[in-house]
Order: sequence, then structure tokens, then C-alpha cells
Amino acid sequence: MTDPFRKPRPAEPVWLTGKLWKEIEKTHTSAFLAAFSPKLRLERWGSTLRALVSQPHPISADASLVSPPTDFPWNAGRVIWQVEGENSALHLLGSGWETEVQELGLTYGIDLTPGTAPGLFPDQRENRITLRSLRPKSVLNLFAHTCAFGALAATGGAATLNIDSSARALARGKENYARNQLEGSAHRFWTEDVRKVLPRLIRRGEKFDVVILDPPTFAHGSKGQAFRIAHELEPLLISCLTLTSRRGVVFVSINDSRTGDSQLVSMIQDILAREQIRARIKPGQRPPEVPPERMPATLWIFRED
Ligand SMILES: C[S@@+](CC[C@H](N)C(=O)[O-])C[C@H]1O[C@@H](n2cnc3c(N)ncnc32)[C@H](O)[C@@H]1O
Repeated sequence: MTDPFRKPRPAEPVWLTGKLWKEIEKTHTSAFLAAFSPKLRLERWGSTLRALVSQPHPISADASLVSPPTDFPWNAGRVIWQVEGENSALHLLGSGWETEVQELGLTYGIDLTPGTAPGLFPDQRENRITLRSLRPKSVLNLFAHTCAFGALAATGGAATLNIDSSARALARGKENYARNQLEGSAHRFWTEDVRKVLPRLIRRGEKFDVVILDPPTFAHGSKGQAFRIAHELEPLLISCLTLTSRRGVVFVSINDSRTGDSQLVSMIQDILAREQIRARIKPGQRPPEVPPERMPATLWIFRED
């Protein structure tokens, strides 16, 4: 007897075209969004494909949903099926959680263990291209995580200061520098709360050609000092502008549904007017494979004084 309540088949994810896939690979990049549907996101991490399934009613593991179309230029060597927010995941092919990927010719270590941040945010690839094009001599990388912005600037010869409150994230960042032969005294890694370190840098008169400000929306701080972007953004921005050298640049990325591109621009225009800073604002860039609704609000502030 047929089941009148049989569940409809979940929507097949839409894959990037083979042409776009090859164009991204030509930039020496192997970490990017490969395919998506409303309930499923397929991420490519080197030779691994990770299926991320959304809650609250996740679809169950199904190998046919992770197969690329026929004649596709790539096949995964390992496939992981992960329900968002769960502490376990399933291998549909292969085993293990760690891998290395390339982005813009640099190598990064990736950890796909459930409950761990992979270690790279591929949606910032175009903004990292912009950073590289600025050829800064010094970069302050705030909320540095695994130091992807810092490492790319370092390949162009910049001295870098990476700051993050997570010792583990910074240790992974140092490993990324080592993977790309970027060690040396020009690169600093400070495990600190950004809010505490900025006044110290300002007192010491340090200046940077580029400041990267890519904070979380919310983070548990030590001693009850939780970080909430809505409260912290304005003082952080003012400090970043103070720390930029003449004609310096601040990059801002906000991943908060209440702060879209236009809200961010008007907030920054208010700050610039109040602080009497002359600057040009340019929108950030979104990689072609990232849907607009998944992209954080990003922009560049170019000081003109
Ligand atoms: C969105 S991630 C940054 C991504 C990074 N810019 C990149 O491109 O890989 C946020 C980072 O902020 C760090 N963090 C959270 N609160 C912090 C604080 N108060 N001070 C310093 N780092 C903090 C977290 O440990 C995390 O690594």
C-alpha cells in the first residue's frame, strides 16, 4: 500500500557551473561553497566535501544529494555529512577530519571535527584579494582567528600583528604562517581581548597601513565581559581609525542580521563626521559563489587625511 504521507524528496542542491569551478581553481583556491539548496550547503575543503544540513528538521543522510552532476570536473575523496549544531557527523566516504586547502595560493590547515571552526572563512576571499592589492607595509589583524588576512598580507611583505582572545585559534594561525614559510620577527601573535589591547596600542603611538576589523556577533568574554557587536562596534571603529597611518585603510566586516551594508555605511559616515576624519568608503566584495544573503556586511574605509 502506498503511504499517503510519504515525505517529499529534499531539494537537490544546485552546483556551481563547471566553468566557475575552474575559474576559482585557477586562483589556486580549493576552499569554497560548492552547491546549495534551502536545507543543505555543500562546502569544498580541498579533496573533502562537507554537507552541512540545517536545523530544525534536518534531512537524513543521502549519498545521492552530495553527488556532483555527471561530467563535473571534480569528485570528492572524502564526504562528511554534518547537521548544523550537532556534536557528531557521519563519513559517507573516507575517514578523518583534518585536511589542508589552498586559498589564493596559500596553504591553510582545516579541521572539520564537529563543534570546531574549520579555520578559514572562504566568503572573505575577494576582500583578501583587495587587501593584497593595497600592498600594505603593516597590518593590524583584529579578531584574527587563524590569521588568514595576516598571512596573505605577510606574503606581500607586510609586518603583521594578529590579535585574538583564543590561544588555540592563534596557534593554528602560527601554523598557517609556518606552512607558507612566513615565520620571522616581523609577525606578532597576541592572545588578548581586543578591547583591552587597543588603548595600549594607541598609547604607544603604533600606526598601521591597514587595520582589519572582523569581529564576532557575540562571544563569551572572561569575567562576564561578553562581547556584543551592537555595543562594541562604535568604540572599536574609532580606535581602528586612530591606529591607521596617514592615508591608511580600515576593513570592516559585520555578520549581524541587524547591520546590513546601508546601516553600516551610515554609522561610519556619522563617526567620520563626528571625529572630523576625511575618508572614502568603498563596499567590500563577495565571491561569485556566495549568495548575497550569506555574505556579511563588509566595507573599506580609505582615509584621505
Ligand atoms: C569571525 S572570527 C574572525 C575571522 C577572521 N578574521 C578570519 O578571516 O579568519 C571571530 C574571532 O574573534 C575572536 N574573539 C571573540 N571575542 C574576542 C575578543 N573580545 N578579543 C579578541 N578576539 C575575540 C574569536 O576567538 C574568533 O577567532
